[in-house]
Amino acid sequence: MKTVYTVKEIREALACAGLKPSGFVPTMGALHQGHISLVRNAIKKCPLVVVSIYVNPAQFNDREDLKNYPRTISSDLRLLGDVLRENDIVFIPGDDEIYPVPDNRKFDFGNAGKVMEALHRPGHFDGVGRVVSRLFDIVKPDIAFFGMKDFQQVAVVRELVHKLGYKIKIEGNPIIREADGLAMSSRNTLLEPEMRKKAPVIFSTISKAAGMLADNDIPGIKEFVFNTIQKAGGLEVEYFEIVDDRNLVSASRKSEMKKTRRYFGCIAVKAGRIRLIDNIEFHPAANPK
Ligand code: PAJ
Repeated sequence: MKTVYTVKEIREALACAGLKPSGFVPTMGALHQGHISLVRNAIKKCPLVVVSIYVNPAQFNDREDLKNYPRTISSDLRLLGDVLRENDIVFIPGDDEIYPVPDNRKFDFGNAGKVMEALHRPGHFDGVGRVVSRLFDIVKPDIAFFGMKDFQQVAVVRELVHKLGYKIKIEGNPIIREADGLAMSSRNTLLEPEMRKKAPVIFSTISKAAGMLADNDIPGIKEFVFNTIQKAGGLEVEYFEIVDDRNLVSASRKSEMKKTRRYFGCIAVKAGRIRLIDNIEFHPAANPK
């Protein structure tokens, strides 16, 4: 693999490789097997893969979160070195490369930009929109790979591609989990040991909830999710919503769920100072009525 740091260098490396289709995996580093699964999928589909590592200040609505975000560049490069091929590229830009001039753009992502994460992290998706569009302009990939772990981010990026007219296919990839079910996340290493022990209750609870749809309506399922996680002690549920994956509109009753659409139960939980998110599919077909 080639490691490059500037826009000029990556343009040269891309022109030199000249392979199509090109795949792109944007990351903020502190890489784990969730990220690596995206890279492996990209490798399967694309003769040229670019992985970017850039901790984007614009998408952090909390200064402490940005300051504490794990930065593990040498182990990141080791992990990538094990999977990337000779022509593949790792792009590690500095702030001046991504934001050579101030970028204060705000985006209209429709409903996807108004609910769940958007309510709890004001400005976050504008920051994601700025960096992802800048990276798309630099890398010009054919296919970009994102994790369904950040379910709402995938919806926002699809909207960005549609609104700004990019000819880039967006692939959503499955969530990779720890052995105990906790969704892998760069922030998991920041969990206090006590919280790390409790955190698997998030996935076990939403998994149970997904199986409750046949015999329960959504208000009861929501109550179950809030109560079960709250009972673990020290975990605070910020939201739990069952949403249509196309427009992220919440279903408040199962009678509103259409068999032709896909629904995901999305949750955010505060575990001490760390915020965790997760989601699981809810099948309306499981509803006999
Ligand atoms: P980051 O949190 O580093 O995640 C990079 C990509 O890895 C995202 O598409 C994310 O959804 C995916 N990912 C993270 N954990 C995963 C898991 N357990 N299973 C599968 N995929 C997982 O998301 C970002 O960075 C940033 O917002 C970014 C898109 C790079 C823009 O700055």
